[in-house]
Amino acid sequence: MALRAGLVLGLHTLRILLSPKEAGAITADHMGSYGPAFYQSYDASGQFTYEFDGEQLLSVDLKEKEAVWRLPEFGDLARFDPQGGLAGIAMIQMHLDVLVERSNHTRATSVRPSVTVFPKSPVELGQPNTLICVVDNIFPPVINISWLRNGETVTLGVTQTSFYSRPDHLFRKFHYLAFVPSAADVYDCRVEHWGLDAPLLTHWEPQVPTPLPDTTETLVCVLGLAFGLVGFLVGTILIITGTRMSRAAPRS
Ligand SMILES: *[C@@H]1O[C@H](CO)[C@@H](O)[C@H](O)[C@H]1NC(C)=O
Ligand SMILES: *[C@@H]1O[C@H](CO)[C@@H](O)[C@H](O)[C@H]1NC(C)=O
Repeated sequence: MALRAGLVLGLHTLRILLSPKEAGAITADHMGSYGPAFYQSYDASGQFTYEFDGEQLLSVDLKEKEAVWRLPEFGDLARFDPQGGLAGIAMIQMHLDVLVERSNHTRATSVRPSVTVFPKSPVELGQPNTLICVVDNIFPPVINISWLRNGETVTLGVTQTSFYSRPDHLFRKFHYLAFVPSAADVYDCRVEHWGLDAPLLTHWEPQVPTPLPDTTETLVCVLGLAFGLVGFLVGTILIITGTRMSRAAPRS
């Protein structure tokens, strides 16, 4: 199993490195990309990711120079030398200057990202849960995403994924917040991006079912009783008239 996974990764590397012409995202705002890996001149940032069948297996932490497996189990199946990722990024970085020249420094238009916030598990007050903020349609991949609790920035319990590539050169990113739902707390996922005029706040708060007020309960109870009584009376009357009519009917 480990051998097979290693082979798949190896073939994938070849495909990326041997076909630089088909992979360049020349439309990018000073961003060059080869498959799922990209480098951009803004803030000299980039990302090397490794995908198989559209799923991210790992990314390379360019600062720490280490492979970060999307799921820890992947690291048990295969190995990846982060030097390969660093070399890939260096190559994209080199080609980026050429691409920028060729496009006459044309900047790509920023895309408006879309944001969705939802809890991982059904919400029960007092039960630890995780809020998920999915930011989709990200281009260029330069973005600030943060969590707010009652309007205040939260940093504790916050985790995030790298940029996940999409076939159309847009990216998707997930941010998580470990939290304990409480009727008193409301949350926002705050997104800053060049495709937005102002920071976009996507609100979430626990939907606590409001208990029926006492008067409503009493009303429902009284109405139910009344309907039952009317039904009983009508039924009795029908039985009595029915019996009388059948007695009165002439025999043939
Ligand atoms: C860049 O500019 C040159 C000279 O003005 C022009 O010939 C060329 O078509 C331009 N290229 C692009 C990609 O716009
Ligand atoms: C992200 O935040 C930094 C620091 O506040 C700011 O300089 C930068 O412009 C922000 N980026 C975007 C895309 O809004």
